[in-house]
Amino acid sequence: MPATTILAVDDDRNLLEVLKMRLESASYGVITAMNESDAATGVREQVVDLCIIDLQLGEEDGISVMKNIHRINPEIPVIILTAYGSIESAVEAMRRGAFSYLTKPFDPQDLLQQIENALVSRKLVSGIKNLKSRMEERYDFVHIVAKSDKMQNVLMLVSRIAGTDSTVYIQGESGTGKELVARAIHLSGARKDKPFVAINCAAIPETLLESELFGYERGAFTGAIQDSKGLFTQAHTGSLFLDEIGNMPLSLQTKSLRVLQERQFYPVGGSKPVSVDVRVIVATNLDLKKEVEEGRFREDLFYRIHVIPIVLPPLRERKEDIYPLIEHFLGKFNVKMKKNVTGLTPAAMQRIMLHDWPGNVRELENTLEFAVAMSEADVITEDLILGDNRAPEKFKPYKEAKAAFEKGYIISLLELTKGNVSKASELAGKYRPDFYNILRKYDLKPEDFKKT
Ligand SMILES: Nc1ncnc2c1ncn2[C@@H]1O[C@H](COP(=O)(O)OP(=O)(O)OP(=O)(O)O)[C@@H](O)[C@H]1O
Ligand SMILES: [Mg+2]
Repeated sequence: MPATTILAVDDDRNLLEVLKMRLESASYGVITAMNESDAATGVREQVVDLCIIDLQLGEEDGISVMKNIHRINPEIPVIILTAYGSIESAVEAMRRGAFSYLTKPFDPQDLLQQIENALVSRKLVSGIKNLKSRMEERYDFVHIVAKSDKMQNVLMLVSRIAGTDSTVYIQGESGTGKELVARAIHLSGARKDKPFVAINCAAIPETLLESELFGYERGAFTGAIQDSKGLFTQAHTGSLFLDEIGNMPLSLQTKSLRVLQERQFYPVGGSKPVSVDVRVIVATNLDLKKEVEEGRFREDLFYRIHVIPIVLPPLRERKEDIYPLIEHFLGKFNVKMKKNVTGLTPAAMQRIMLHDWPGNVRELENTLEFAVAMSEADVITEDLILGDNRAPEKFKPYKEAKAAFEKGYIISLLELTKGNVSKASELAGKYRPDFYNILRKYDLKPEDFKKT
């Protein structure tokens, strides 16, 4: 049985046949449907990994077919086929959750490439429900929770660039997942079986960093009794992750620039150049543009590394991710500590939702590790969340604090009611129209809460 099953939906029988033939010859399993109801049956009755949907389906509309499929399984990636000249509706389809689109007539090679991209990205996106079991998670190469649109966009970008060798520039506050994303990029590309070498440029003293990165030849300095390979060489054919690159001393920035341009360098004390083939991924939590302006970072190096920028949003700007992250971490710590914590009390949840998370995902992870370790019951109570060791919070202006509270409160309500607006507005003691106004104010969509 083929490992991957694709559902193709088109009202043109001939086109459907051609599509089926092409996909089958690429070793995909294919099921077909000519209308919305058959498509829904297909997705209900078997495991479908990806859908290809024609936007114009006679009487019906491809977007509504997609929405219906996503109602059954929100994780299925959808590729939209569209007639030449209807790009606008294709873009609309992307906005509503399609992975990508192809304009007819399309190049079969393009189609296969897009399918590949979509399948890779789905692997990354797989929410906790997608995991076959929590035990298996350990073997899942990297698990990134991403429910918010902002993180979905990050993963979309990751899957699109994984196959290239371009330098990636990851920027984000501390604890937002920069290293996780760097590893995901390495593991989703052609270099995945080759080394991933990481170095934190801020953690190593300036005097050692050069020989760490570039290696040295015997006799280069006292104690160099034999040649040593640097990290650039160790990462040959694989990826090199330069973490905290903003803290690299200026002298080494010059040397690094040359390696990035020529993929060649001289080890310390060496006279023969060494050539390497590495994909470089850098990360920083500084605003490097500002570092450049203030003369602490070389402008030319900045432009050399700023090829594909990925910005990881702070957790406080994507509170929709908090709930799935909690599930993810509870699963992880339950296994690790052999516990069976199933959730949090509403008060504990509220405390989490109202916190600003200056330490981002890492802070949330630590908070839950502590809570799971300390919990004597199956449900975590609020005293275990951000208790004694809680950092004093900065005072916010009234208006900001009120808005933050309101948004957090509404999100908790939506989580609690799984996006049921009637119930949520009732609990809040608000009329539905007023409740909808608040949702709009914070750009919250009830359907985003239906999944969990
Ligand atoms: N989206 C996510 N899904 C699951 N786990 C995450 C996610 N983001 C971060 N984490 C976890 O949070 C912790 C911090 O992530 P990571 O080390 O990648 O952050 P960072 O940005 O490199 O932090 P720092 O700037 O402090 O080095 C890790 O344990 C990581 O596995
Ligand atoms: Mg890091």
